[in-house]
Amino acid sequence: MSPTKPIDPNLLMSRRSFTASTAAIGAAAVFAHPSFGKIAGLRAENTLKVGVVGCGGRGTGAVIQALKADPGSVLWAMGDVFEERLAPCLHYAKEAMLDLDDEQSTDTWAKKIQVDNRKFSGFDAIHKVLASGVDVMILTTPPAFRPEHLRYSIDANKHVFCEKPVAVDAPGVRSVLASAKVAKEKSLSLMSGFCWRYQDQVRETMKAIHTGGIGDLHTIQTTYNTTGWVEPKKRKSEWSDGEFQLRNWQYFNPLSADHVAEQAVHAIDWQAWAMQDRTPARCFGVGGRQTRPDVAETGNVWDHFSLIYEYDNGVRAYHMCRHWPNTPSDNSAYFIGSEGNCTMQPWNGTHTIEGSRPWKGAAGSNDMYQREHDVLFKSIRNAKPVNDGRFMSHTSLLAIMGRMAAYTGRVVTWEQAMNSQVEMNAQPWEFGPRTTPPLAIPGTNETI
Ligand SMILES: NC(=O)c1ccc[n+]([C@@H]2O[C@H](COP(=O)([O-])OP(=O)(O)OC[C@H]3O[C@@H](n4cnc5c(N)ncnc54)[C@H](O)[C@@H]3O)[C@@H](O)[C@H]2O)c1
Repeated sequence: MSPTKPIDPNLLMSRRSFTASTAAIGAAAVFAHPSFGKIAGLRAENTLKVGVVGCGGRGTGAVIQALKADPGSVLWAMGDVFEERLAPCLHYAKEAMLDLDDEQSTDTWAKKIQVDNRKFSGFDAIHKVLASGVDVMILTTPPAFRPEHLRYSIDANKHVFCEKPVAVDAPGVRSVLASAKVAKEKSLSLMSGFCWRYQDQVRETMKAIHTGGIGDLHTIQTTYNTTGWVEPKKRKSEWSDGEFQLRNWQYFNPLSADHVAEQAVHAIDWQAWAMQDRTPARCFGVGGRQTRPDVAETGNVWDHFSLIYEYDNGVRAYHMCRHWPNTPSDNSAYFIGSEGNCTMQPWNGTHTIEGSRPWKGAAGSNDMYQREHDVLFKSIRNAKPVNDGRFMSHTSLLAIMGRMAAYTGRVVTWEQAMNSQVEMNAQPWEFGPRTTPPLAIPGTNETI
């Protein structure tokens, strides 16, 4: 693995994949985690029942992290639009608990996994999971469904872990902001999948920037350049348009929001964080699609974006992301200030400042995915709710705003982005005929 190649965050802590995950995340980080290998004092009478909707790679990982985060967390109910996704998720969760048993010689898995027949498929799985008596929801479907799944969950008084991005369009972002407000009023915890916010080395670097380590920040550069996503799945004759698009959700922007918002949003979140979540005034950019010639197979997403954000205080932020096979990967950030330059390459552990106050990060690495769940469950136990609602919505919109600017070829202001009425999933989701969403051609679409 090249030092800057991003880790596949879907790596699972099963017996078989454990070695690979350990190498990727860093052995020290995994073993140092206090909950790894022991979940002390399991108490069946003090359970937090966990439900998951979206049992793919991230849903499975998040289930395992939720089970490790708290002695009384149990997997209670599962939902996925495709029935066949349930069994592998359950299998890997059980394997992960068996790994713990190896060290404890107990029957941890049987205490932690109490799904019984609460396994639901179809588009209404969310409602069945919510009605099953869960306390905490894990929302890990493709982003398109996040706003309504979050609304249903908060309306049903559930604590939530939800993956990023939180929406694919501005109406979705506004819905999530409203749900986050209700969560706050109800004292429910709401944790996002913007996992870098829970990584100690990046936290330390952001603190160095925020406390004057580079003087006045004036320029930010972030990259999320990779060789691509999961391979597109070839269409089967029995699949409807809806099923084909759903099984290849990354490649259709109504489902994924495009890779700038689905994946590169992590790097865009570094920009937002460095700016202390101040919103930009405007954005413009370019992009396109050079390595995905076959629209029938690879949907309508682009494969590269280059964006410039301008802030009212004069800061300019440059972001580039691409999905190009056979090219070098790079996921870095550079923060340039009046008194120094900060280089942040979290995948290879580089956190440095050069300038009038040279600095080198000293924090240890940690498993950020696990930390999110540790914080979430602790907040629930202590009745001190976390609420990531505002920043997770704003960072998602920051990326969506960049996509709007590049797709249209226009300058997009924050207000235009936030107030956009464009709904990317106006047609309700079902298995059946569905139009292939068009490829964006800058200069031809005035709608933002
Ligand atoms: N924080 C991170 O580092 C990170 C890493 C990977 C993925 N993610 C995010 O997690 C989400 C899921 O990604 P993934 O890689 O697990 O994808 P995936 O395809 O592996 O899993 C998604 C699952 O959701 C199911 N699904 C689709 N629509 C549904 C619906 N309406 N109701 C119920 N189930 C539905 C699919 O069948 C699939 O099993 C995405 O938003 C992605 O951006 C975050």
